[in-house]
Amino acid sequence: MSAGPLIFAMPGNAVAAGALAGMLGWERGELEVHAFPDGESLIRALPAAAGRDAVLVCTLDRPDAKLLPLLLAADTLRDAGARRVGLVAPYLAYLRQDRRFREGEGVTSRYFARLLSGHFDWLLTVDPHLHRHASLAAVYSIPASAVASAPAIADWIRRTVEVPLIIGPDGESSQWAAEVARLAGGPSVVLEKQRRGDRDVAVSVPDVARWMDSTPVLVDDIVSTARTMIATVHRLKAAGLRPPVCVGVHAVFAGDAERELRAAGVQALATTNTISHPSNAIDVMDLLAFELRRLLA
Ligand code: R5P
Repeated sequence: MSAGPLIFAMPGNAVAAGALAGMLGWERGELEVHAFPDGESLIRALPAAAGRDAVLVCTLDRPDAKLLPLLLAADTLRDAGARRVGLVAPYLAYLRQDRRFREGEGVTSRYFARLLSGHFDWLLTVDPHLHRHASLAAVYSIPASAVASAPAIADWIRRTVEVPLIIGPDGESSQWAAEVARLAGGPSVVLEKQRRGDRDVAVSVPDVARWMDSTPVLVDDIVSTARTMIATVHRLKAAGLRPPVCVGVHAVFAGDAERELRAAGVQALATTNTISHPSNAIDVMDLLAFELRRLLA
């Protein structure tokens, strides 16, 4: 019988890799990224993965600096004779540029997918930002699976929030908001958003008079500049609703975003642990482990 899968953590991913390996009873490998003085990287992965499935764990917020070492690590494992080399990226970046919005721009979601597809045999992530791409298969040429965080978020809401009103800040969030509302057993509303620039967002709120006794729970997939959530918090408060609870799947939090969001007057802030952040209150590692076991069965 061949040995089971080996799980390796890219730098910064030891907690997630350890949790997955522990839940699955799989062996943890050690992966070292040595930075030479000239800025190049050398990867060393032990034990050698010859004939075994190798799983690299690397969440892909701030992706540009992570990408080259990740691709080099995948090639190192393949060279060592790994049977298959897979990627667990709890947060998968580069999905928002899903079309050419202005003349001369690149469709980077496709280019990024092409790079990863050229180095890995399969990919697993959590709630990828799919808007104009209907599925990961529309951009990734390798088997690419996604785990939904909605059950974990709904469970947290049921335990933490009384009389929740689930709110999606824009059409793109309706897929998460509706599912979370269904599982949490509350109503949901989806707002309209206009993004005029990286940090310039306007949100319009419909008539919410009948929900004055509810606790608004904003649910969005990515919190980056937090401008979407901040604009929504202001509009909900202006409409007379209580200070909202904000739930984000992926805690990207660029720059000062977390402080600015809290300063907007939120009742609570919770994120999942797809990206390690102090606001992580919702654990999705068991959902990932379940899917990972199924994938490599
Ligand atoms: C947009 O399409 C996404 O679903 C999020 O609403 C967006 O990425 C949030 O970005 P920010 O925090 O920068 O407003």
